[in-house]
Amino acid sequence: MADTLSAVPLLETPRLRLRTVRRDDLAAIYALHADPRAMRYWSCAPWTQAQQAEDWFAQRARQGETEEIWPWGISRIGADTLIGLVTVFAVNRSQHRAEIGYLLDPAHWGKGYAREALRAALAYGFEALQLLRVEADIDPRNEASCRLVEKLGFRREGYLRERWRVNGEITDTALYGLLRRELTA
Ligand SMILES: CC(C)(COP(=O)(O)OP(=O)(O)OC[C@H]1O[C@@H](n2cnc3c(N)ncnc32)[C@H](O)[C@@H]1OP(=O)(O)O)[C@@H](O)C(=O)NCCC(=O)NCCS
Repeated sequence: MADTLSAVPLLETPRLRLRTVRRDDLAAIYALHADPRAMRYWSCAPWTQAQQAEDWFAQRARQGETEEIWPWGISRIGADTLIGLVTVFAVNRSQHRAEIGYLLDPAHWGKGYAREALRAALAYGFEALQLLRVEADIDPRNEASCRLVEKLGFRREGYLRERWRVNGEITDTALYGLLRRELTA
């Protein structure tokens, strides 16, 4: 099995490093996805078995072989432990657009880390990948996520009803979009 997911360039922000995800991050990745607080508005139920992290890693590694995907692990400067993930996926080169997803350890919420990490990944997408538009699919009840993307300049462009079925719950999507010229400084 691969030792890493798709290799991504190292991006450094004042407090964070966005780096390639490795097999030795699996325990941290499991802890993130097993935390009900972090998974409240996610597209699957909280994980309950360590094997789910193995399966996730294998599936993501395979996905990286056939699709363009940029999966960054987030760690703090000076501490290599993975505290979150930010992924640019569904990259459509001919249309210059992609989607973004993100997940941060609740122990680190409310410090502006997600904004710092997303801004770096978005800047990379707009500059290096020449994207012109990035989308985020958010549960409208997820206030933290809505606020996060709005502060980065995203606009709420659409409301898609009953788009997800997670753990017996039917949920809607607030579809957000950010154009290259709109990313806030
Ligand atoms: C969404 C998430 C990444 C935000 O991480 P974070 O590091 O706490 O966010 P930041 O500290 O960068 O905050 C960004 C903005 O959101 C606001 N915010 C953060 N948590 C909030 C909350 N619970 N309610 C309302 N606003 C909130 C912050 O105040 C800040 O806005 P401000 O500049 O006006 O103060 C984090 O809550 C998370 O990982 N959630 C679980 C996974 C998830 O839902 N991912 C998104 C799926 S679409």
